[in-house]
Amino acid sequence: MTDTGIAAADVSLSELLEARISCRAFLPTQVPRGVIERILELAQQTPSWCNTQPWQVAITEGEGTDRFRSGLSEYVLANPQEPDFDFPRDYRGEHRLRRRECAMQLYSSVGIAAGDRAASAEQTMKNFTLFGAPHVAIVTTHESLGTYGAVDCGLYVETFLLAAQSLGVATIPQAALAGSSRFIHDFFSLAEDRRVVCAISFGYSDVENPVNGFRTTREAVENVAQWVSR
Ligand SMILES: Cc1cc2nc3c(=O)[nH]c(=O)nc-3n(C[C@H](O)[C@H](O)[C@H](O)COP(=O)(O)O)c2cc1C
Repeated sequence: MTDTGIAAADVSLSELLEARISCRAFLPTQVPRGVIERILELAQQTPSWCNTQPWQVAITEGEGTDRFRSGLSEYVLANPQEPDFDFPRDYRGEHRLRRRECAMQLYSSVGIAAGDRAASAEQTMKNFTLFGAPHVAIVTTHESLGTYGAVDCGLYVETFLLAAQSLGVATIPQAALAGSSRFIHDFFSLAEDRRVVCAISFGYSDVENPVNGFRTTREAVENVAQWVSR
């Protein structure tokens, strides 16, 4: 047992990497503050360029999450997306294929037929109710650090996900929320020089929900790695 009272699984990194998935249906059960603090402590081990540690994280719990969820849901209906970092301009070739495959897996897990735009839009809107998660963590970087500050924050996100997984806490990173940077700044009173990288909704997985039942695929290593031996 850890001092959080949660049994810490003695699992290897490979087991954590294989077990972690993006959770899109959560139980309402709050994660104890001590467990969240342990995740944050572990995530602090993330490396960063010059050890600048540009990440800051704003976290909700209890009624704070409810207030965030309802405010955000209203905000997205009335405002255009204005992310601090440009969203992808285009998805082409293999990126398009992979994006489509994972969207199809998601939609078919919840019985949405290919081409049913209304139902897929409704599923997308669940991003803004945090898929029912009892907590959200907003990860921001400092504007002066540019792309590499965002890269460091990306590493932080992955450490957070794996630390949470090691403590039995399910997560989903969400760039969708970064489109509502203005709302997020106002909600958390963030300084104007902070840039929203993404959100992480987290809590305990509703394992019975079919939306948590599919597994995304990965490219074979030989198609991503290039070797030079002589
Ligand atoms: C930076 C980042 C942003 C993401 N944003 C979203 C999002 O807004 N909504 C969503 O449903 N999933 C989002 N995801 C989850 C990805 O779709 C998911 O990681 C990918 O399909 C691989 O599946 P897995 O996480 O289950 O292994 C995001 C993942 C990352 C790393």
